[in-house]
Amino acid sequence: MAKMKAVQVVEANGPLEVVERDVPEPPEGHVLIKVQACGICHSDSLTKEGLWPGLQFPRVLGHEIAGVEDWQQGQRVGVGWHGGIAATARIAVTATSCFARRRSSQASATTAATRNTWSRRRKRWRASPTISPTSMPPRFFARASPRSTHCATAARAGDVVAVLGIGGLGHLGVQFARKMGFETVAIARGQDKAPLAKQLGAHHYIDSESQNVAEALQALGGARVILATATSGKAMSATIGGLGLNGKLIMVGVSDEPVEVPITQFIMGRNSVQGWPSGTAADSQDTLAFSALSGVRPMIEEYPLSRAAEAYDRMMSGKARFRVVLMPGK
Ligand SMILES: NC(=O)c1ccc[n+]([C@@H]2O[C@H](COP(=O)([O-])OP(=O)(O)OC[C@H]3O[C@@H](n4cnc5c(N)ncnc54)[C@H](OP(=O)(O)O)[C@@H]3O)[C@@H](O)[C@H]2O)c1
Repeated sequence: MAKMKAVQVVEANGPLEVVERDVPEPPEGHVLIKVQACGICHSDSLTKEGLWPGLQFPRVLGHEIAGVEDWQQGQRVGVGWHGGIAATARIAVTATSCFARRRSSQASATTAATRNTWSRRRKRWRASPTISPTSMPPRFFARASPRSTHCATAARAGDVVAVLGIGGLGHLGVQFARKMGFETVAIARGQDKAPLAKQLGAHHYIDSESQNVAEALQALGGARVILATATSGKAMSATIGGLGLNGKLIMVGVSDEPVEVPITQFIMGRNSVQGWPSGTAADSQDTLAFSALSGVRPMIEEYPLSRAAEAYDRMMSGKARFRVVLMPGK
């Protein structure tokens, strides 16, 4: 049996360790992918720390994959969170495992790095060499989430759209909001990220430590959308007073803390709150096409597979600018 290197966690909250494993045999309906790059997302902490119900250990982490597989020799493909078109997030977690040199993926969850070129004969998307493998993983997950949330709202060009939390997801959310024509507001803790947020396209920056976020948003006319990528329910609650008429808070960041909703404001302002899971393979496809068209690019830090533990800690420290990506080939 052919072998490969993989990074696994033996038990909930255990350390990440590099091990040798059998190359998986893809079952019916799956494809075998040679992993070129895999992003480390904050959501990987749900798996590593055993916070997701029903996980079995030892397990290999990871769900932001770029690689090549055998639909067509050398074709570059990517996989995001979902285990398939109709898959639930729960299935997605059980299906993820890409901190490895190879992984088997459900074909319906797999996206080709292409710009909307559909092959009728092969019934799949044709590959394009325009997007590098290292910048693909964050697009599949970190990108598909913020872009599909922006798409799913009724916001129009010129509306105030705020992004709370400028990390792996948020730095892409800001770029998408700007490129989609919104008046873009970045909200983060402290002044440290202000210059970068402006560089990413934010028209305005709100420092949640020194400013009242809700008042600052109201001074801009009120937000039509607040995309909350921060890992804090309290920080999300603090933005709610900043919603404008028909404004919506979209919760993408995961937190145990509940979000408090002021009922009268919600009635009078026709406000709403919505949770949002990552996009489907089709969303990833659209996201890649839009990124190639508009020039949205992730800022990444690359690590070899052998330094996966360090790379994970770097992501958790909040110091990464902005997405940590593992490179199994290095
Ligand atoms: N729903 C989905 O589809 C989906 C997809 C991907 C990820 N997620 C979730 O989304 C969250 C973000 O993921 P990520 O990979 O972008 O994580 P990340 O790179 O660690 O970024 C999280 C950001 O949230 C900020 N933050 C935390 N608490 C804050 C607060 N009180 N006020 C302002 N900012 C705060 C952090 O800022 P500091 O630098 O100041 O700490 C950091 O920049 C995670 O909970 C992840 O599990 C959800």
